[in-house]
Amino acid sequence: MAIAVPALPFTFVVHALAVIGAVFVLVWVLHFRGGIAWEATNKSLIFNLHPVLMLIGLIIIGGEAIISYKALIWRKEVKKLIHLVLHAIALILGCIGIYAAFKYHNESSIANLYSLHSWLGISVIVLYGIQWIYGFLLFFYPGGTDALRSASLPWHVLFGLFVYVLAVATAAIGFLEKLTFLESSGLAKYGSEALLVNFTAVLTIIYGAFVILSVSSQAPAEDDYSYSAIE
Ligand code: HEM
Repeated sequence: MAIAVPALPFTFVVHALAVIGAVFVLVWVLHFRGGIAWEATNKSLIFNLHPVLMLIGLIIIGGEAIISYKALIWRKEVKKLIHLVLHAIALILGCIGIYAAFKYHNESSIANLYSLHSWLGISVIVLYGIQWIYGFLLFFYPGGTDALRSASLPWHVLFGLFVYVLAVATAAIGFLEKLTFLESSGLAKYGSEALLVNFTAVLTIIYGAFVILSVSSQAPAEDDYSYSAIE
């Protein structure tokens, strides 16, 4: 089911929002939150890896993976490879990002998995992993029968979009939660940092909306590398 408009303009918006979102989250942690680190006495620097990797990895690179069939004009096999590699990168960065949140909690003697955000977050990464492995086995290697592939494709699309929307919602709740922690320790509610965090969350949701719009509209014609005479 596709709406009768070309997807390409929506995919350009996705790329532009991806750059802005990445800049926003980097400005937040590098300028306002003191930077990022894997080992540090200031444990907050370890936490800071979490929003960076979740937004740039799971949400932005994951979104680019989802729209690859609509944003590119190359052959289907090439697009499939780009789709699965980008999703693998998103998944790996997402796992490292979640590990950083656990590392921060453990090294600061803070409990794990006590919030709605963390419960949804664990669900997202597990479902994302299942979706990737099933997609790889069925559509790439060793590959299912033609009948199984065509019966599974609508489920793959539906389940993939469900997990992605859940990921966007989880990220938005993550920004809300962190900003609430910071505001209850004295951060100005209308200060520039608070505005930046809220804008980053809004931008994350708009990014997700344009990913959905792109996949719901019509793909560009494929380049099949066939000869065409110059007229
Ligand atoms: C889809 C993206 C995201 C996923 C899957 C995710 C997942 C998780 C998980 C599983 C935890 C639990 C760690 C533990 O219990 O030790 C966590 C913690 C946390 N995350 Fe995220 N996260 C995401 C994005 C974000 C973003 C963008 C922020 C913004 C700052 C954020 C803020 C937090 C905070 C403050 C915690 C610690 C408090 C808590 O456990 O709820 N998260 N996240």
